[in-house]
Amino acid sequence: MNILGIETSCDETAAAVVKDGRLVLSNVVYTQIPLHVPYGGVVPEIASRAHVEKISEVVRTAMSDAAKSGDPDAGRIDAVAVTYGPGLSPALIVGLNAAKGLAKSLNVPLIGINHIEAHLHTPFLREPGPGEGDMGPGPEDAMPALGLAISGGHTTWLDMPAYGEYRVVGQTLDDAAGEAFDKAAKLLGLGYPGGPKVDRIAREWFETSGASSRDLIPFPKGRPREGVTALAGLPAECCVSFSGLKTALLRYVQQNGGTEALAAAGEVPRIVASYQEAIVQAVADRTRTALKRRNCKALIVGGGVSLNSRLRAVLADTCRRAGVRLLMAQPKFCGDNGAMIAALAYYRRNKTGDAAMRLDAAPSLDFETS
Ligand code: KG4
Ligand code: ZN
Repeated sequence: MNILGIETSCDETAAAVVKDGRLVLSNVVYTQIPLHVPYGGVVPEIASRAHVEKISEVVRTAMSDAAKSGDPDAGRIDAVAVTYGPGLSPALIVGLNAAKGLAKSLNVPLIGINHIEAHLHTPFLREPGPGEGDMGPGPEDAMPALGLAISGGHTTWLDMPAYGEYRVVGQTLDDAAGEAFDKAAKLLGLGYPGGPKVDRIAREWFETSGASSRDLIPFPKGRPREGVTALAGLPAECCVSFSGLKTALLRYVQQNGGTEALAAAGEVPRIVASYQEAIVQAVADRTRTALKRRNCKALIVGGGVSLNSRLRAVLADTCRRAGVRLLMAQPKFCGDNGAMIAALAYYRRNKTGDAAMRLDAAPSLDFETS
C-alpha cells in the first residue's frame, strides 16, 4: 500500500510516498529557513505563503520520484495522509487543503496525522536498496517502549505500552529543547535556527581545544522548581525546565561584558558547549529516570533535536547502560518531512472516511491514543 504524506506544520513544505508504512519511495523537503532568517524565527504568514507557492511542485515531485523508484507499484497512490496538528494554524491549513483536494481527485481516502506522533515513527523508516529485505524491528516489535519527542515545540516523554498507546510521563514545563537552543543562539548572535549551529560550534570546540567536561561553565541542569511539577501533575524527576538555564546564560553574558566582548575574546564556543551540555545532560538524566521506572524494550526518539550529535552519543550510552535498545532515525528523517506522515498513516488506516475530510487544523493537538 502506497501512501502520499504531506507536511506543512511549520517551515518545511514536504511530501513523500511510503510503501507499507516503512519503505520510503520518495521524500521531498523544501525548507523555508532562508525566508525566516532575517526575522530570527518562523513568521507564520511568510510560512503560509511559501507553503502555498511550493506545495504543488513538492507533491508533484514526490509522486514522480516515487514512480521512478523502481518499485513495481510505485506509480499507485492508495491514500493521502496529512499533518493536521500541532503546528502553526495558517501553515497547517495549506497542507490540509491540498491533501483534501488531492484525495478527492485521486478518489482515495484521506488520513489525518499528529505531527509529533509521526516523529516517533521515524526510526522505522527504510529506503529501497540492497538492505531492503532486512527492515529491522517494526513499531509493534519495539513495544513496550519509552518515547521521547524532542523538537522545536516539544520535549515530552511517553510511556508506550503497546503500539499506538501513549501516556505522557514527563515533559518540559516551559521551553522545548529546540526552543532553548534557538533562543541561546539568538542571544549569542549565531542566527536561526540555533540548534544546528550550537551543535557544530560545540563539536568543533571539543575537537580542536581538547577540552573536557571540567572546562565547561556549570549552567543549571534543567531541574524544575519544587511545586511547579505538581501543577502539571507529573513527577519532577521526569520533567525539565529550561527557563533557569536561559536566565543563567543571559546573566553570564551580561556579567562578562556582553555578546560582542565575549565573541571578541573567543569565548562563545565554550559558552555554547556548556549550554548544550546542560540541555543534553538534563534530557539524559530524565530519560534514565523514566527508563528505571518501567520495563522497556526500547527508547524511541524523534524530532529535530534528535539530530544533535552530543545528544545522540549520550543517549546511546544511557541506553547501553540501561540494557535498552535505542531507536533513532537516520539524520535525513529527523527534521520535518512527509515520509513520517505517510509512514504513520499506514498504521492509522482506520482513521479515515468522511470525518477525515472534515478535519480542521489543530494547532495545539495533544497526544492521543488511537
Ligand atoms: O522537529 P523539527 O524539525 O520541527 C518541530 O517540529 O519543531 O525541530 C526543529 C528544532 C529547532 O528548534 C532546531 O533548532 C532543532 O530542532 N535542531 C537541533 C539540531 N537540528 C535541529 N537542535 C540541536 N541540535 C541540532 N543538530
Ligand atoms: Zn517536527
